[in-house]
Amino acid sequence: MTVIPAFSRSAASLLCTLALLACVNTTARAEATRAAIDERVERLLTQMTVAEKIGQLAQVNADEGKMSAKLRAAVKAGMVGSVLNAVDVATVNELQRVAMQESRLGIPLLMGRDVIHGFKTVLPIPLGQAAAWNPDLVQQGARMAALEAAASGVNWTFAPMIDVSRDPRWGRIAESFGEDPHLVSVLGVASIRGFQGDDLTRPGAIAACAKHFVGYGASEGGRDYGFVGIPEIDLRNVYMPPFKAAVDAGVATFMTAFSDVNGVPASGNRFLMQTVLRDEWKFPGLVVSDWESILDMVVHGFAASEKDAAFEALSAGVDMEMASTTYRDHLPALLAEKRIDMATLDAAVRNVLRVKFRLGLFERTVTDPADYPPVASEQNLALAKKLTAQSLVLLQNRGAVLPLERQSLRSLAVIGPMADDDYEQLGTWIYDGDTALSRTPLQAIRDIVGPQVAVRHVRAMETTRSRTTTAFAEAVDAASRSDAAVLFLGEESILSGEAHSRADIDLPGNQMELVRAVRSAGKPVIVVILAGRPLTIEPILGDADAVVYAWHPGTMAGPAIADILFGVESPSGKLPVTFPRVVGQVPIYYAQRNTGKPPLPGTFLHIDDIKVRTSQTGLKNKSWYLDAGYEPLYPFGYGLSYTSFAYSDIAVTPSRARVGMPVQVRAVVTNVGKVEADEVAQLYVQDVVGSVTRPVRELKGFQRVRLEPGESREVSFQLTADDLAFYGRDMRRATEPGTFHAWIGGSSKAELRADFELTAD
Ligand code: BGC
Repeated sequence: MTVIPAFSRSAASLLCTLALLACVNTTARAEATRAAIDERVERLLTQMTVAEKIGQLAQVNADEGKMSAKLRAAVKAGMVGSVLNAVDVATVNELQRVAMQESRLGIPLLMGRDVIHGFKTVLPIPLGQAAAWNPDLVQQGARMAALEAAASGVNWTFAPMIDVSRDPRWGRIAESFGEDPHLVSVLGVASIRGFQGDDLTRPGAIAACAKHFVGYGASEGGRDYGFVGIPEIDLRNVYMPPFKAAVDAGVATFMTAFSDVNGVPASGNRFLMQTVLRDEWKFPGLVVSDWESILDMVVHGFAASEKDAAFEALSAGVDMEMASTTYRDHLPALLAEKRIDMATLDAAVRNVLRVKFRLGLFERTVTDPADYPPVASEQNLALAKKLTAQSLVLLQNRGAVLPLERQSLRSLAVIGPMADDDYEQLGTWIYDGDTALSRTPLQAIRDIVGPQVAVRHVRAMETTRSRTTTAFAEAVDAASRSDAAVLFLGEESILSGEAHSRADIDLPGNQMELVRAVRSAGKPVIVVILAGRPLTIEPILGDADAVVYAWHPGTMAGPAIADILFGVESPSGKLPVTFPRVVGQVPIYYAQRNTGKPPLPGTFLHIDDIKVRTSQTGLKNKSWYLDAGYEPLYPFGYGLSYTSFAYSDIAVTPSRARVGMPVQVRAVVTNVGKVEADEVAQLYVQDVVGSVTRPVRELKGFQRVRLEPGESREVSFQLTADDLAFYGRDMRRATEPGTFHAWIGGSSKAELRADFELTAD
């Protein structure tokens, strides 16, 4: 027991009282603010005409970022609640001036923009950020992006995308934080905190948007906009948790998905928006449709007309319509016919106005970039570099070919279509990204090695999709005259993102042949892959000594990659998504259910080894593919380092506890290699027997630790009842008593295990 001396005991109790008072005060203040906002909303609402109310529900695209005469007139008439895609500060200020000074009620505009992974300074694509497993840096990145965007007058970003994504064919996996509900939730909340800050009224705070509610990541076949068939239990246990976490973190807005979810398009889905989002989760914010997703409901075959689509969307709970105009065109008639009542319209308008008051827009007049820190400052670039460096995943390093030794290196061949492309390294959704800021790998390698190392650059392929091999001889020649060859391969940014799904996720074009050709030069071959998704890279592994997965790394791709290649920093990224061997294994994710016939290591028989004219393989029937086995190429959470880490001494205390009592899981991680490095220690749990089957493992916590050679550190995680709860057959969330396995280690294949028991009494 800790003995507190009398003096400090009273000091401690005073501190406790003060902390309690501060907490009570903060809650009271928040409630007072909320009440004051509600009062202002009600006052405004009573002054509004029906047309002005409908106007608040319209989000209009600023064509080419400009303010057309038509847009000006609509804003002046109070027919626009939000404008998207205006980022020129003069245009934004003029739009706000017209709204606030020339419209009858002077209601400011929400200025929306897709600030997805940075603004001028481009950060790694969200999938790359997720590979850093560093919520703090993700939060700082979002804060930086918010400040850069706010300096242009943007007050609302359509981010973060928190769709759990388990299909690398889907182009939008690039925009996601990967396959795991826990990782996506933690990073989603970090981004929301970064964008919104502590106080939405502060300059530089912008409203975040949790999108796309819900299930878009499970588009059938990985084809964008595809049907989504997800049982409610998986919606609740897998796809919804990041959205619930976003509500709890105070996200200001939600966006619906384009998807047809179990037969009801998300933008007309009352179960999703009413039952779950409003009734169960008590979301007080604004729900915006996706681009024309209300109109799409006619095409889905869910609404007979645009008017019916408007009816379905508003009555299901879409407050604001993005881009299409079914509300503007049809709500007057729907109200006159009493299909929609005024209370439904008012509820939507309240949600829009509340966000405007929360953001303090009525008190802001003009945006002056001089009030903000400079965009793309050295500080922002340094942050981008740090996040990028942590996002790089070392997948293979045979013979410790990496890091390259600067002292002994005399020459280096730098090959490939992604080595020196200031645009392609930025990735999808970079409306405002500035290629002039990009530092490419080639430039950074030249900088880091200095003039004494001959850097021989051969692009070899015009694009990653090129089929011509005429320049391969030049690449082989450069490699054979150099100490080593680094190839920058992958896929251009246009090959991922919205509507850019792929059925074949191999390295496109003749890139595999290029690796093979360069290998023939007999020098160490290092492959760096820049891509928006996991690619099926197994065919190149035999010809590459080292492979670094760089995602689309953004503005600071070059310096971050160069630091890793030359060992200034050890790689520490871990995969946020499982890498399949072949595309036919998709969907493949670590948190699968066991099946009744799970494969056992060493029991697999490959199709090539099956005898002719046989009806039996001689093995028990198991859940695998005869031609691809059952293991992925790389598991979730995997990533190598220039050092090695050993895990030991796992313990759970108490190992037997009543449901409701927290348990502590801890282990010791030791740097058993020769260089200082970061490691991401991961905790996985299995609820062995459930009232419904549970995943074989689920990520429940992670911690990034930095260790010197020989240094050990204890990592410790607290598991509460809530962490172990799940939705069962009755769609109620509960923690069930029983046996649990817990593993701590460096990937989802961690082997160090301890068990614990939760009891009912
Ligand atoms: C996308 C959204 C995006 C919106 C506005 C849509 O096509 O699905 O994610 O925020 O466009 O640009």
